[in-house]
Amino acid sequence: MGIEPTRSDDWLPTETLEFPEGFLWGTSNAAHQVEGGNVNNDWWAWEQKAGSPCVEPSGDSTDYWNRYEEDLDLCARGGGQNVHRFSLEWSRIEPAEGFVSQVALDHYKRLCDAILERGLTPMVTFHHFTTPQWAAAEGTWADAAIVDRFARFCEIAAAALGPDRLPYVCTINEPSVVATLGYFVGMFPPGVNDADAQAQASANFVRAHAKGYGAIKAVAPEAQVGISLAMQDTQVADPDDDAARGFAEFVDFRMVGFFVDALRTGWIENLGPVVADEEVPGLAGCGDFVGVQYYARFVADPSSPMFTTPEPEGSEITQMGYASYPPGLGVCLRRAATTELPVIVTENGMATDDDKRRCAWIAAHLAVSHEAMTEGGVDLRGYTYWSTTDNFEWALGYGPKFGLIGIDRENGLARVPRPSLDFFDEIARTNRLDPAVVAEYVGLGT
Ligand code: BGC
Repeated sequence: MGIEPTRSDDWLPTETLEFPEGFLWGTSNAAHQVEGGNVNNDWWAWEQKAGSPCVEPSGDSTDYWNRYEEDLDLCARGGGQNVHRFSLEWSRIEPAEGFVSQVALDHYKRLCDAILERGLTPMVTFHHFTTPQWAAAEGTWADAAIVDRFARFCEIAAAALGPDRLPYVCTINEPSVVATLGYFVGMFPPGVNDADAQAQASANFVRAHAKGYGAIKAVAPEAQVGISLAMQDTQVADPDDDAARGFAEFVDFRMVGFFVDALRTGWIENLGPVVADEEVPGLAGCGDFVGVQYYARFVADPSSPMFTTPEPEGSEITQMGYASYPPGLGVCLRRAATTELPVIVTENGMATDDDKRRCAWIAAHLAVSHEAMTEGGVDLRGYTYWSTTDNFEWALGYGPKFGLIGIDRENGLARVPRPSLDFFDEIARTNRLDPAVVAEYVGLGT
């Protein structure tokens, strides 16, 4: 038994695919990956720590803190994009517990206004991986105190921004990734290797989502507020391999199932001995949409060093080491839809130096998304490509290139728009995926 090689080209559209009117098209980024100089969060400390698994520190990053207008001008230039996703850096807004920086709040107000002035809609993420150092000092997400701290931050930031700047909100970005890489694998801060801490962090994240949701909706009742979940298509190479299947089920539950179930039922359940089952007030159906962030399949193999079956010869491998596997996005969209909430792809993108392959990735994943809408009945409302520009890819530093816009790090962080930006803009402007346009940008037949 094995798995088939996979590449984007196998999933390109063969006919013109129209997207629904009002579909959201845009790009996504996150504060710590682009702003630069975020010295007060747990990631900054993690990057500087002796023996850190980070290949390099974030430093000045792309200086989005000062240069966001340049990036927004590029996002708006094609006239098709209508949304821009970014995140608030909690450690800038509340650098010490209880001290709220008006300067930081004013900055984010100006950023939202700059987005709106360009005809884009802000999609504001309140937590994207980073936590202020003062909160991190006390167990961070494994400690239940974080729930009220986060809810208070949501209240303060939402009140300062006000409802007009908050049409779309993601409360928390990929809680399973922080819980797993930070508390179980030890590759993200706080660098813990403890399955119980992973469970506690997962539970606190869904509690924080429910409370944060309430705090934001109290200020902005019309806001579309959701949580963005990391989703992967978990498989096994051999369905008769019981050990692999059991392991796959466990990983899938901790990474995806737990969060989808929590949104659907309102219960924290099955997290093992340290987290008692609990019905969380307001958690059932909590959200106006659910964000799906999809990158790859995960072929579970407990006996392999990376816990995953290596991709076969012929698979298209990205700079992240995983393969382009578009059909997995369809699986994840259908799964997200079991929450009965509308769905937005809040992240999906390819790290590559070959921009034509990025165009193929986009086309293939959009074709699969379209099918999930039309054949799968998924109420899909939009797609924000990861990422606007190349940026700091966490422990992997500046190596992986996800951007529709490159950043010339040797040349004053100059913005270098790629053909994939034009390609994406054309899809957005026409609200359709046309095989002839795909062929042109992917370079088919050339
Ligand atoms: C995260 C991003 C990250 C991207 C690409 C997602 O896990 O939300 O911060 O850069 O994937 O790896």
